[in-house]
Amino acid sequence: MRRVLIAGNWKMNMLSADGTALAAAVAAGSGPQPSCDLLICPPATLLHAVLDTVGKTALPDRPVSVGGQDCHADASGAHTGDIAAEMLADLGCSHVIVGHSERRAGHGERDAEVRAKAEAAHRAGLVAIVCVGETEAERDAGQAHTVAAGQIEGSLPEGATATNTVVAYEPVWAIGTGKSATPDDVAGMHRHIRGLLPEADAMRILYGGSVKPGNAAELLALEDVDGALIGGASLKAEDFLAIAATAA
Ligand code: 13P
Repeated sequence: MRRVLIAGNWKMNMLSADGTALAAAVAAGSGPQPSCDLLICPPATLLHAVLDTVGKTALPDRPVSVGGQDCHADASGAHTGDIAAEMLADLGCSHVIVGHSERRAGHGERDAEVRAKAEAAHRAGLVAIVCVGETEAERDAGQAHTVAAGQIEGSLPEGATATNTVVAYEPVWAIGTGKSATPDDVAGMHRHIRGLLPEADAMRILYGGSVKPGNAAELLALEDVDGALIGGASLKAEDFLAIAATAA
């Protein structure tokens, strides 16, 4: 019932030549009968080129969606350097990541702002990928479930549905560290999160944090894991597609 979503978050990586080559390789290699949805989220500078590349390379029955990594809550205005959800939609993006822990930590984003950004995504017709996850200190203090619950409650807007929202559980200590959460921990957390969601049976919950071709199969096999949000391994088409293949 919940179709698997394999999403690549390129973060602040790739210049135009490498980025378009990566997008072309992902689009060309996405398999004859895709059993999952594929999404790539390049940096804003490459959205136009990546959308163009994917449009030219992907076959109609093997679409690859393109999303932004962040958006501003307002539709327009005096916000130097920011990008409105409407601008992403205007380019042809279908998704936007909001509340990534790197933005929560590096830009001081709090739940209320993340919620406003998710609302902006919905207003613009985009699917919001709302990220939550505890730090190592919070985990060590036994607060992982409480922290995730607080972030879900604070970051998910009123109008969130299974169609316009995806939740990504990304424990901060597992991001870029090579230290993925154990399948038991992920299973428990995803079950906990599902119990807090609107349209809980249908809303997709992705796991993120050091997902690689070698550990993807056991994580994606878990009942409440509906896909992955992948950082480092999404920068190599081979690895990204190998992860997607484990979802088959
Ligand atoms: P890594 O896959 O590099 O751990 O990054 C995960 C992530 O932050 C995706 O948004």
